[in-house]
Amino acid sequence: MYDAVNTEQSVQQTDTKISARNVQVYYGDTHAIKDVDVDIAGNTVTAFIGPSGCGKSTFLRCLNRMNDTIDICRVEGLIELDGEDIYDPKVDPVQLRAKVGMVFQKPNPFPKSIYDNIAYGPRIHGMARSKADLDEIVERALRRGAIWDEVKDRLDAPGTGLSGGQQQRLCIARAVATEPEVLLMDEPCSALDPIATAQVEELIDELRQNYSVVIVTHSMQQAARVSQKTAFFHLGNLVEFGDTSQIFTNPEDPRTESYITGRIG
Ligand SMILES: Nc1ncnc2c1ncn2[C@@H]1O[C@H](COP(=O)(O)OP(=O)(O)OP(=O)(O)O)[C@@H](O)[C@H]1O
Ligand SMILES: [Mg+2]
Repeated sequence: MYDAVNTEQSVQQTDTKISARNVQVYYGDTHAIKDVDVDIAGNTVTAFIGPSGCGKSTFLRCLNRMNDTIDICRVEGLIELDGEDIYDPKVDPVQLRAKVGMVFQKPNPFPKSIYDNIAYGPRIHGMARSKADLDEIVERALRRGAIWDEVKDRLDAPGTGLSGGQQQRLCIARAVATEPEVLLMDEPCSALDPIATAQVEELIDELRQNYSVVIVTHSMQQAARVSQKTAFFHLGNLVEFGDTSQIFTNPEDPRTESYITGRIG
């Protein structure tokens, strides 16, 4: 049905990086995520798919506590990163989000220069010993975001002055600049043209050499191209989770089959 091109796996998937158990999310009285269990493996791209409103973004935001910023949102259950409860009161959400970075659907560069957008995280986390170090970190991140060539001559220009697609690649570069262990991406290509999308997909495949990537996408082709694992959500439930090749060729649940063949969603 869809070509899962990543089935010959050059990168060995490693043990569980993030484990979620009995996760419930409520917005006031709305029960948006219902009893979700999932293990996110290291060195793996995991795709979250499912119809609009099924809870993909909500669940993704649980993984780096971005839901903390939404007043009416309540998260229950256990989520561990490398065996440690990320909701433990001892955990500093700012440190957590450096380890579990995020790229949003809508590009959100800081109102700062292109250079400072990237340098911000490495500076606050003390990653550079000198200006030369920082310059190198910035260049490497921009290269990984597949945007270096377009911005190298205007690093002092505001990030907000870039095109939408360029802004998104800047945000991806910003997210990888702090060397996160897990990168959460919520429909990262929805503002990109096919060329930039292909560049980002290539980048995602590269990132999994070192990190875990979780990507929310509405594109079945994209999920099949970039991921090794796929989770199908429906009405707040995690209906099916497995190898991407199996989910797309031989789904177990009729709801998954209906969705991937275009009958629901
Ligand atoms: N900030 C919020 N306040 C109240 N309800 C919310 C909030 N964010 C999401 N919801 C509700 O939670 C449910 C899941 O929404 P969520 O945004 O996670 O879905 P999604 O799968 O990401 O959808 P889409 O594909 O459209 O982005 C929906 O019913 C939505 O209305
Ligand atoms: Mg969403």
